[in-house]
Amino acid sequence: MAEDPNSWETGTRLIRGGLSRTHFGETAEALFLTQSFVYETAESADARFAGDEPGFVYSRYANPTTQMFEDRLALLEGAEYCRALASGMAAVYMSLLGLVKAGDHIVAGRALFGSSRWILTQAAPRFGVEVTFVPAFDTQAWRNAVRPNTKVFLIETPANPMLELTDLAEVCAIAKAAGIKTIVDNVFATPIFQKPLEFGTDVVVYSATKHIDGQGRVLGGAILGSKALLEEAYRDPIRHMGPAISPFNSWVLLKGLETLDLRVRRQADTAAALADRIAAHAKVKTCVYPGRADHPQAAIARKQMTGGGGTVIAFDLGSK
Ligand SMILES: Cc1ncc(COP(=O)(O)O)c(C=O)c1O
Repeated sequence: MAEDPNSWETGTRLIRGGLSRTHFGETAEALFLTQSFVYETAESADARFAGDEPGFVYSRYANPTTQMFEDRLALLEGAEYCRALASGMAAVYMSLLGLVKAGDHIVAGRALFGSSRWILTQAAPRFGVEVTFVPAFDTQAWRNAVRPNTKVFLIETPANPMLELTDLAEVCAIAKAAGIKTIVDNVFATPIFQKPLEFGTDVVVYSATKHIDGQGRVLGGAILGSKALLEEAYRDPIRHMGPAISPFNSWVLLKGLETLDLRVRRQADTAAALADRIAAHAKVKTCVYPGRADHPQAAIARKQMTGGGGTVIAFDLGSK
C-alpha cells in the first residue's frame, strides 16, 4: 500500500513531499527549465488546453518542478492545494485580486508590509475597492469594520515591522460568520511555527524569498488553501495575468524547504536569546519579540505560535 504523506514527520515532508522522479531515478529533483511541452497529436494538444486530458501545457499555467515545490509546501502547511508565484507580492496581490471586484471592501491590519500597504492605499482605490485599516490586535475593531460589501480580511501576524499579533481563531470566526474570506500573510511566523488554516483561515500567503529560500538567492511566493477555492478564485487570473514563478526558482526553493525546519528553529533560538539581551540593555526603551512574556499580545502568541516566537525582533531606542 502507498504511504500516506500526511503521516510523515515535518523533516520527512520537507525532503520527500511532492517528489516526482523521472525514469532516470535522479536523487535531486529534476529541473524542468522549459516554457512548454510537446504533444503526440494535435487532438491531444487540444484536449490538454481544454483541460480534458492530464498533462502540462505551458509553464505560465503549471510546470513539473514548480508542482513539486507546490506539493511539498502544501504538505508542510497542511493545505489541500498550493500555487507558487514569482514573488511574495505576486502572492499577496493575486490573493486579493481573485476575491474582490469594484464596489467591494477590504479590512486589513494597519501595520502591514509596505508593498501590501501600497496595494491597499494606492492600487485598490483605482479599481473601486474600499479599504479600512484596523489595529490588528483588537478583535473588536475587525468586527466593527465589517460592512455589507466586505469581502476580505487581510491579516499579517506577526505584522512587519512591529510584530503586532492578531488572534486568528477569533478574527477568522468573525469573518466566517459574515461570509468574508480571510487571507493571512504568514511570512514572519513561518510555516514551522504557525499554521493559520488550523485556526479557520481560508488563504495563506508566503514570500518564499524569506525563510523558504533563506539564503538570499531567489524570489518566490505562494498561495495556499482548499483546492476548490484556489481553483475558483485564482486558476484563471494566474494563467492569464502572468505572475508565474521560474522553474529554476522553484527548484532552488525545493532545496530550501529541505532545511527550513533546521534553519528556522536555530534562527528563532538565536532571536529569543538576542531579544532577552536587547531588552536588558540600558539604552533600549522597548524590545518586542513574540516569544517573550512581555510581548503586548503574549497570550495570542502562546495560542497560535507553537514552538517558537519567530526569527524577527523589533526594538525602540527612544527619541534622541
Ligand atoms: C510580511 C511580508 N509579506 C510579503 C513580502 C513580499 O515578499 P517578496 O519580497 O518576495 O515579494 C515581504 C517582504 O519582505 C514581507 O515581509
